[in-house]
Amino acid sequence: MAYQYEGFDLTGKVAVITGGNGGIGLGYARGVAAAGADVSIWGTNPDKNAAAEAELQEINPSASALRCDVSDEEQVEESMAAVVERYGRVDACFPNAGIGTQNQKGFHEHSNEDWFSVIDVNLHGVFFTLRAATRQMIAQGEGGSLVLTSSGTAIQGAARGQAYAATKGAMLAMMMGLSVEMARYKINANAVIPGWIDTAMTERLFNWDKFVDNVMPRIPMRRWGVPDDFGAIAVYLMSDAARWHTGDVIKIDGGFSIF
Ligand code: NAI
Repeated sequence: MAYQYEGFDLTGKVAVITGGNGGIGLGYARGVAAAGADVSIWGTNPDKNAAAEAELQEINPSASALRCDVSDEEQVEESMAAVVERYGRVDACFPNAGIGTQNQKGFHEHSNEDWFSVIDVNLHGVFFTLRAATRQMIAQGEGGSLVLTSSGTAIQGAARGQAYAATKGAMLAMMMGLSVEMARYKINANAVIPGWIDTAMTERLFNWDKFVDNVMPRIPMRRWGVPDDFGAIAVYLMSDAARWHTGDVIKIDGGFSIF
């Protein structure tokens, strides 16, 4: 009988994907749902939640959406409890919800509000989500996967976007510490660095000719990334195939970072 590789089968596993109602998060969600996982996507926008939930249920009827602002500790705790209530467990956590720079002012003109609004979602939100998920995974005692969505700005910085870049750099540091600390529980932790991806977050930039003229020639693949470029990495990192793969930073950027 022909050899059949079954390492990517996610049947019986449960994924929590924050910011899963659009963009990269929905790309992750489509991938893991297609591989058999039960998926809970969390987002703040009820219309986007409903549309994404319906779309995912076409792939796997068990998919569902929760309204949750990840910057609110209480909402995160309630949402994680609701996932466990509904699906009985959590096997993978993708703290992917994030917002971009809230203004285009210079760093010296940033208000406290500009700074804190980004940190609240991109860093505190990731902390609340990962803390609740790891607590559940440790209690289950069967391992798990943590997949953080960082950004090239973690390494290169972002002019006028220091708050955003700081959160993305902090996510790499969190991931490395988690990969060591969680190894004893058979929980792996990795980060994805997407290149320039066509989502709601980048819509304004991609409609700006000067930006496109400068950036597109620096992408060897000569196209923007799309959310479905992220399904496969989500399946892999959540699967048994990746059980010994931890502490890594995986760039999915069409070659942008090495060109
Ligand atoms: P997006 O705007 O399509 O998705 C962001 C998601 O986060 C949305 O679903 C939104 O509803 C959700 N969200 C925002 N604030 C939230 C909150 N307080 N609570 C819960 N959910 C919230 O943008 P995209 O591009 O898909 O972003 C996903 C992640 O990828 C972000 O962390 C972003 O920083 C990161 N990223 C994006 C890149 C790109 O080129 N689009 C490049 C590198 C990283």
